[in-house]
Amino acid sequence: MTDLKKHFAVIGNPIHHSLSPQIHRAFAKENGLHIAYEAILSPLDQFTNTMHKLIAQKLSGVNVTLPFKKEAYQLATTHSSHARIAEAVNTLEFKQGEMIGHNTDGIGLVRDLEQNLDIHLKNKKILLIGAGGAAEGVIYSMLEKKPSELTLTNRTIEKSNVIQKKMDVHAKSFNVHLNVIEIPKCPHQYFDVIINATSASLSDANLNIDHKVFHEGSLAYDMMYDKETSFIREAKSRGSKVSDGLGMLVEQAAEAFFIWHHIKPQTKSVIESLRAL
Ligand code: ATR
Repeated sequence: MTDLKKHFAVIGNPIHHSLSPQIHRAFAKENGLHIAYEAILSPLDQFTNTMHKLIAQKLSGVNVTLPFKKEAYQLATTHSSHARIAEAVNTLEFKQGEMIGHNTDGIGLVRDLEQNLDIHLKNKKILLIGAGGAAEGVIYSMLEKKPSELTLTNRTIEKSNVIQKKMDVHAKSFNVHLNVIEIPKCPHQYFDVIINATSASLSDANLNIDHKVFHEGSLAYDMMYDKETSFIREAKSRGSKVSDGLGMLVEQAAEAFFIWHHIKPQTKSVIESLRAL
């Protein structure tokens, strides 16, 4: 019997923790689609080979997670504007011989903030902590929402300066004040939204930001989703609203699902069921 199922995968290293198979299967079930979606561990130096094997197996689409988003960008034959600006790809679409690279991380973050948490970014002041791939991947999507200010900060401040230089042309086009401050200077300004995009949360290392940066009425958002980080604990102790990144994870998956199937899945029930776990 011919297998009419479309096949998808998420590729990363490590990958055992990935919730993507669960999320995409839930979206597919809700929409009556018959898909297979599996998690693939690629050796660190074998991303391209692993991808070629998947292409030979006629997969319909692939999600890419750490540490391969830059390599996926290189491999893609064409790019969406978000992927081009971030120079990173988390969703590959195979279409008419092309390998189209998309980046849905920024859209996922913005949807979680605006639609799930009801924090609208227009005219807001945002502090983005971190200057790695996670931070760079979401900046353009935030600029599109026209906050009044987007301030970048990072332990290694030179990296924030590099990103600021690169993104300033886009910030200007959206009329956003894009600037860089050093971490110790944070408390002297008020931010509506403070986003932790560092990998410090993985080891629960302290970011060394002054806890006075957190205020009642501000939202502290950690892109990490499977544990309460010291960033979230400090924000809570100062009376800030807080959120982890589970909603972002589900929303970026929903956008990938839309790219592949042209269907916008419901995300609320999936976020709730994952949170219940
Ligand atoms: P990712 O792709 O997840 O962003 P990355 O490119 O390695 O991963 O970037 C990790 C980010 O977390 C960087 O901004 C890093 O700061 P440095 O640029 O100074 O290395 C930040 N980070 C990691 N551990 C940190 C810690 N203990 N304190 C503060 N920042 C940290």
